[in-house]
Amino acid sequence: MNLPAKRKIPGPKSARYIRISQKYEPSCIADQVPVVWDHGQGVWVTDVDGNKYLDFTSGVLVTNLGHSHPAHVEAIQNQAERLMNCYSFPTPERVTLAQRLLETLPPNLNRVFLLSTGAEATEAALRVAKRHTGKFEVLSFYGAFHGRTYGAMSVAGNLSTRRQFGPGVPGGIMAPYAYCYRCVYDKTYPECDFYCIKALDRIIESSSCGQLGSVIVEPYQGAAGFIFPPNGWLKALEIWAREKNLLLIVDEVQSSFGRTGRLYAIEWESVKPNMLCLGKGFGSGLPSSALVAEAEIFEAMSTGELSSTWGGNPLASAASLAVLEAMKDEHLPENAERVGSRLKLRLSSLQEKHRCLGDVRGMGLVIGLEIVDPEDGYSPSPELTKKIIFSAAEHGMLLGKVGLYGNVVRIAPPLVITEQEADLGVKILDKVLTELGI
Ligand SMILES: Cc1ncc(COP(=O)(O)O)c(C=O)c1O
Repeated sequence: MNLPAKRKIPGPKSARYIRISQKYEPSCIADQVPVVWDHGQGVWVTDVDGNKYLDFTSGVLVTNLGHSHPAHVEAIQNQAERLMNCYSFPTPERVTLAQRLLETLPPNLNRVFLLSTGAEATEAALRVAKRHTGKFEVLSFYGAFHGRTYGAMSVAGNLSTRRQFGPGVPGGIMAPYAYCYRCVYDKTYPECDFYCIKALDRIIESSSCGQLGSVIVEPYQGAAGFIFPPNGWLKALEIWAREKNLLLIVDEVQSSFGRTGRLYAIEWESVKPNMLCLGKGFGSGLPSSALVAEAEIFEAMSTGELSSTWGGNPLASAASLAVLEAMKDEHLPENAERVGSRLKLRLSSLQEKHRCLGDVRGMGLVIGLEIVDPEDGYSPSPELTKKIIFSAAEHGMLLGKVGLYGNVVRIAPPLVITEQEADLGVKILDKVLTELGI
């Protein structure tokens, strides 16, 4: 595949919409390169000026089926013509989705409460866990991101999520995540022998008031910079939580629906959480999320205590059903694993040429490039990260940014990507880094 022609961004029409945005929308909305999206197909997005881009963002890891996937569009159109909302009256779409979703999960997870956003799911998980255990303390991790509502924010491990919003909901206890590239204990895997799991006892002994009831964890940390713990870490955490009689809440809002090369990231180590939060790719574009848990846990709540205006609405349910079907029929997790390993290998090989690529990590189609100062090969460089993302857009590829230091390029294309399209992305990135001389 040929490299797309270089273009000037923003184009004239994009510039016009950006001016309107600046006048009428708050500037605190997440910043992006100045490209105004018009339409998309598969892994390609076209802006209002007619420029085509290879989408390596999936929005924010949402459009796992690719843009305007035909079966997904058809399911949504058909449903829109029949019924769009009925609050919590059951519909065939909602109950069928509940059944089909649970068929894809470990059998202990046997009830699902459908919602709209990821934060709604994590917030509900925290509330239900507290009611069930009768304990208000929750263990979470440095760097964690579980959404921007108050409960979720109170277990976030990053200042940028919590700054000046305190005091949060009481009971949050924090421990270091397995961020091996920048280990807070200054240890090295595997010699460390999961020191960060062993240290949990000490952390609890010194910070808890004896009311710890649950642990919430991401299988890999998304917002913190696509941080992947070493193999076995999540399992070790599960074992530790069981020993302490704690509920294990796994937040797969981001990592689910094929992203890591399995339908769910918990499958890699056969982890069996007590509660699971799902979102993003679940609707592949329509707001759809879920809290899945053991029936006994939900029984702590009385009738009517869990509700949400849009939760499980027929339109979102129809969209999510189409997602489940496409995952299976088109083997999208398998494609994510196959194309993702090739992509990671090729991106890693760029490290020899480009010293700014401090760390290349990921699984399936979620890959983080930690951008560092090429001089010392380790200090985070948010400035270069911005330049890379801007220049990539000029060269026809859209990238995102994450990271505790704002220095991780997020690579997360729709799961329908082909090897040729993935290779094209690597070629564009190579060209960008070469032009920038980093
Ligand atoms: C792991 C995780 N949990 C929760 C959320 C919150 O999801 P939402 O923005 O849909 O509320 C996110 C969003 O990025 C996430 O990555």
